[in-house]
Amino acid sequence: MALGAIIRRLAGPLERPLCDAYRALFMDVRRCAQQLQAAIPVDCHLIDVGGGDGAVLDAILRMRPDVTATMLDLKDAVGKFLTPEIASRIEIHTRTSIDAYLTQGGAPAACILVSDVVHHVPSEARMAFLRDCIRLMQPGGTLIIKDVAPGHLVSVASVYADRYITGDRHVQLIAPVDLVRLMRGLGLNASEALLAPMERPNYAFAFRVADATPPRA
Ligand SMILES: C[S@@+](CC[C@H](N)C(=O)[O-])C[C@H]1O[C@@H](n2cnc3c(N)ncnc32)[C@H](O)[C@@H]1O
Repeated sequence: MALGAIIRRLAGPLERPLCDAYRALFMDVRRCAQQLQAAIPVDCHLIDVGGGDGAVLDAILRMRPDVTATMLDLKDAVGKFLTPEIASRIEIHTRTSIDAYLTQGGAPAACILVSDVVHHVPSEARMAFLRDCIRLMQPGGTLIIKDVAPGHLVSVASVYADRYITGDRHVQLIAPVDLVRLMRGLGLNASEALLAPMERPNYAFAFRVADATPPRA
């Protein structure tokens, strides 16, 4: 078992505050959620791919009472940190890949959120994963990807934390410019950066199918 999982189990009722404090070393969840939610269309249903404990989704849904969500994750414990006030607006699919969700008849959505997941997907599997994310989008939909840029002290610390505390040896960060290029190759245009410079090394874009992107003013 990974060190992080052992610590979480031992923490008991302190698990949530401990995890919040740990995450705060790398990201201000509330502030980032505030900026991410601006890219989510009104009254939309969102699919949170790799939703994990649900910290980011929870913050977003508390700010956006008009949004409902489906969480997909490969893990069997998902949504642990969702607060009761928003839990009724969320459907959770544990141990479910995107492909399995779609094969089981799951519907695509107007907005897809992929927060801190891409760097956990092994680099050789990334193209297939991103293609699957696109398959989840309704026509004219929005794909929000939030990740961590390499080359900062905090990023180096986050990679070591992911490797040796979370226990994911595959972690590999992707630079914003590489993600944008990759998505462009898949036919999607990136928005302006969704997160302010003060959130670095965290970054995010809203991607839309090239033809569906509204012309800039
Ligand atoms: C660092 S957590 C991010 C959790 C959440 N999105 C957030 O930002 O708070 C990464 C999550 O992605 C999930 N994950 C990794 N690869 C995945 C895949 N191919 N499909 C679905 N979930 C995946 C992991 O199981 C883990 O729960």
